[in-house]
Amino acid sequence: MSFRIQPAPPARPNRCQLFGPGSRPAIFEKMASSAADVINIDLEDSVAPSDKDSARVNVIKAINEVDWGNKTLSVRINGLDTPYWYRDVVDLLEQASDRLDQIMIPKVGCAADVYAVDALVTAIEAAKGRTKRIAFEVIIESAAGIAHVEEIAASSPRLEAMSLGAADFAASMGMQTTGIGGTQENYYMLHDGVKHWSDPWHWAQTAIVAACRTHGVLPVDGPFGDFSDDEGCRAQARRSATLGMVGKWAIHPKQIAISNEVFTPSDEAVAEAREILAAMETAKANGEGATVYKGRLVDIASIKQAEVIVRQSEMISKR
Ligand code: COA
Ligand code: MG
Repeated sequence: MSFRIQPAPPARPNRCQLFGPGSRPAIFEKMASSAADVINIDLEDSVAPSDKDSARVNVIKAINEVDWGNKTLSVRINGLDTPYWYRDVVDLLEQASDRLDQIMIPKVGCAADVYAVDALVTAIEAAKGRTKRIAFEVIIESAAGIAHVEEIAASSPRLEAMSLGAADFAASMGMQTTGIGGTQENYYMLHDGVKHWSDPWHWAQTAIVAACRTHGVLPVDGPFGDFSDDEGCRAQARRSATLGMVGKWAIHPKQIAISNEVFTPSDEAVAEAREILAAMETAKANGEGATVYKGRLVDIASIKQAEVIVRQSEMISKR
C-alpha cells in the first residue's frame, strides 16, 4: 500500500470517441450532431498522403465553424515518424480556435515522444497568447508503446486519455492477424477437444489500465474494425469496461450507441451499488467492517467498488 493517493482522471464522459477522416468534410456536421462524447477528426492513417495538406485546412475550418456542442473535440495528428506531424501541430495551434480541446498523438513509443510535442505546443501557446491549454491523448499501438506504457502515462500534465490501437499494435507485435480487436480464430485453449477462445488483447488492456490509473489518465479501448458485427463489438466493449476502461472508439456511427450503452452504468448496477453503500453504512453504524448483502460478503473494499459505479453514473448524468 502506497501512502500516495491515486490521482483522479479528468471528470468528463469519454464513453465513445467517434472518428472521421479529416479529408471527408461532408461528415463533420454529422459527427458534431452524433451522441459521441468525444470527436476525433483524423489527420493520420485515414487520410492519404496526397490529402494531408487539404485535410489540415478542412479540419481547422471545421474546428472554427462547426457547432460541436459540449463534446470534447480532438484532432489526431500524424506520427512522429512522419514528415507531417510538426505542420499539424503548428497549423492547429496557430490557426484553430480555442474550441479545440485536445490533440491525439498516435504511435507513441516513449515518454520523450510526448515531451517533444509538449515542447512545441507549449512554445506556440506562449507565442500566440493562447489561454486555454491544449490537452493530449495518446495511442498505445506498438511494442515500444506497451513496453514503456507507464512512463508514457506519466509523461505530461497535459495527458488526459490513452487508447489501445489494436491494428497497428498487432502489426508491431508481429501478431498473425489482420483483425482489428475482438476474437481471434487461432487464439484458443483446447480442453477435452473443445476449443475455448481467449482474449489476445487482454494483457495489453490491463497494462494500459494500470498505467492510466496510476497517473490519473483515462484508459480507452480503441477501434473494433468489423462494424457489421454489433455483437462482437458489444462483447469487446463489455470486456474493456469490466477491466476498467471508460470508453471505446467508434469507427462508424452505428458503434456509438453500443459504447454509450456499455460504458454507462445500468440503472440496475447503480441501484445495487447504492444498496451496497447503504448496507455498509448500517454495518459501520453497528461497528462492523463487513456485512452480508444478497448472500455475499461486502466490506470496506466494496464501498470503493460501489463508489466507482455511482461516481461514473453521476458524472455522465451531469452532462
Ligand atoms: N462519422 C459520422 N458519420 C458518418 C461516419 C463517421 N465516421 N461514417 C459514415 N457516416 C455517415 C455517412 O455519411 C452516412 O450518412 P447518410 O446516411 O447521411 O448518407 C451514414 O453515416 C452511413 O454511412 P455508411 O454508408 O454506412 O458508411 P460509409 O461507407 O460512408 O463510410 C467508413 C464507412 C468506415 C469509411 C467511415 O465510417 C469512416 O471513414 N470511418 C472512420 C474511419 C477513421 O477515421 N479511421 C481512423 C481511426 S481507426
Ligand atoms: Mg493506428
